[in-house]
Amino acid sequence: MQPDIQISDDPAGTAAELLAEVTGQLCITGGSTPRAAYERIAELRADGIWFTDERCVPPDHEHSNFRMANEALLERAGGATVHRMKGELGPAEGAAEYEREYELAGEPVFDLILLGLGPDAHTCSLFPGAEALGERERPVVGVETPGMAPLVPRISLTLPVVNGSGRIVFLVTGGDKAGAVARAFASSPDPSAPASLVDGEVTVLLDEAAARRL
Ligand code: 6PG
Repeated sequence: MQPDIQISDDPAGTAAELLAEVTGQLCITGGSTPRAAYERIAELRADGIWFTDERCVPPDHEHSNFRMANEALLERAGGATVHRMKGELGPAEGAAEYEREYELAGEPVFDLILLGLGPDAHTCSLFPGAEALGERERPVVGVETPGMAPLVPRISLTLPVVNGSGRIVFLVTGGDKAGAVARAFASSPDPSAPASLVDGEVTVLLDEAAARRL
């Protein structure tokens, strides 16, 4: 399905509005880009908050996606149930634990999932050519060797769960992502550009710099 590509001078503001509208199950992502959106959300109405991926570090570590989201957003998450990926358990046990939590919750379809994009066109912790890209059964996997910094093992949702979401929103800014944007959203699906394998009702929120190679 062709993504709905929206280029603006405030993609983070648009993302913040979309996340704030969700009343069901919301899946948020890590890295650095989303912080600008998270900080703009006055209050979340979602019942459940999930994570796309996590670094295998303690939740108070500088590389923790949970720590970033907690500082920028989760204190304003209202009565939501926050489903933290327990990175401190390591990739295998951490993925197994999240899989159990996801299954116990009835394998929810996320109303909206927010994704980022690495300069190598990875998303979640699904890196170019990774075996995890081919996973079709498990909802969550451990990633022993990430393709990019921070070079710590990861826990990541798999493509079936991502693509099964009601709405998929990428938030991508900065000229360093322009090549990845072109490979992910204006080229044929290819495991060398994992984000190009994301399919469904996809909205791509870009600033001019990230869109300059489209
Ligand atoms: C992570 C993210 C990852 C991120 C991209 C972009 O754990 O790093 O989930 O998929 O979205 O790496 O990261 P930046 O927003 O920091 O460029």
